[in-house]
Amino acid sequence: MPMRHDFSENLMSLQSHILLEEAKHPSASGDFTWIVSAISLAAKSISNHVRRARLSGAIGKFGDTNIQGEEQQKLDVIANEALMRCLGTRASVAVLASEEDDEPTILRKGKDGGKYCVLFDPLDGSSNLDTGVGVGTIFSILRNDPNVHSAQATVCQPGVRQVAAGYVLYGSSTIFVITTGNGVALFELDPFIGSFLLVKDQLRVPERNSVYSVNEAYASTFPDGYQRYLAWAHANGYSSRYIGSMVADVHRTLLTGGVFMYPPTKKNPEGKLRYLYEASPMAFIMEQAGGLAYSGDARTLEHQPHKVHERVPVLLGSRGEVEKVREFLR
Ligand code: AHG
Ligand code: MN
Ligand code: MN
Repeated sequence: MPMRHDFSENLMSLQSHILLEEAKHPSASGDFTWIVSAISLAAKSISNHVRRARLSGAIGKFGDTNIQGEEQQKLDVIANEALMRCLGTRASVAVLASEEDDEPTILRKGKDGGKYCVLFDPLDGSSNLDTGVGVGTIFSILRNDPNVHSAQATVCQPGVRQVAAGYVLYGSSTIFVITTGNGVALFELDPFIGSFLLVKDQLRVPERNSVYSVNEAYASTFPDGYQRYLAWAHANGYSSRYIGSMVADVHRTLLTGGVFMYPPTKKNPEGKLRYLYEASPMAFIMEQAGGLAYSGDARTLEHQPHKVHERVPVLLGSRGEVEKVREFLR
């Protein structure tokens, strides 16, 4: 019997992984896989634009302000276009909602099908683009309710109702992280074959790590409990890491542990981060990896949003570290 050579290079692609996941749900019809493949295609295009933005003139401001009152970067618009075009061709998508668009986009209504709503922050941390800092895309997939006629009401669902959530980090490599409710899987884009390949499945966030991630410039306007926590952390040898791109800060927290927070501030009394396409998907990922996520006193995933661009406070990360912060918030 000739010896079998082990040429088994890693060929567990994102698509294969999602198909295997989908096979575990007898009711699944393959629609869901097509949505993830649309996000993956858009992510590859966005990664390419981000990595050669200066050469292609895509760097810099678009010259418009979005509904958030933030100046749009050209790449915010390019990323938004890529996601809208890739997802718009998928028959299983009913509604799309983006950080960059005032209102959700209704693609299919009622009997025309469309089982899912896809919500996204097309380019998170885009104010960091000019300086080459890691930026990302965040997405959340919800079921569509054909009996609800307002797009806003359809997408305003608590995070516990997410079918899937994840993000793409355009950092030192292009990383795709996703959960469908059965643990967290991490993929890396192999640029030579153009596929996201599985690097780690059932990823777990470390129980503890003495690192906190917050914009301390606003600390004097944080509610008192956060200020008392920071004083405790300073006195107990904690270190601070803050990149200013939520995807990069949350990814580091997921891999190495610690706590990430964006508390209420004077400028943003409800917190700066948006529930539907930043806090909720990241909370799903963090809980699926064994961590915790709170928005004020409530578990982030149980918050009921009423507006598409609603903001909430964010506190997420290692179980032990989040509980430590919560001791000071009580
Ligand atoms: P976006 O670029 O999508 O508007 O998000 C920016 C967010 C988030 O990425 C980050 O955590 C936060 O803004 C940083 O805010 P500060 O600059 O106020 O710290
Ligand atoms: Mn963002
Ligand atoms: Mn954004």
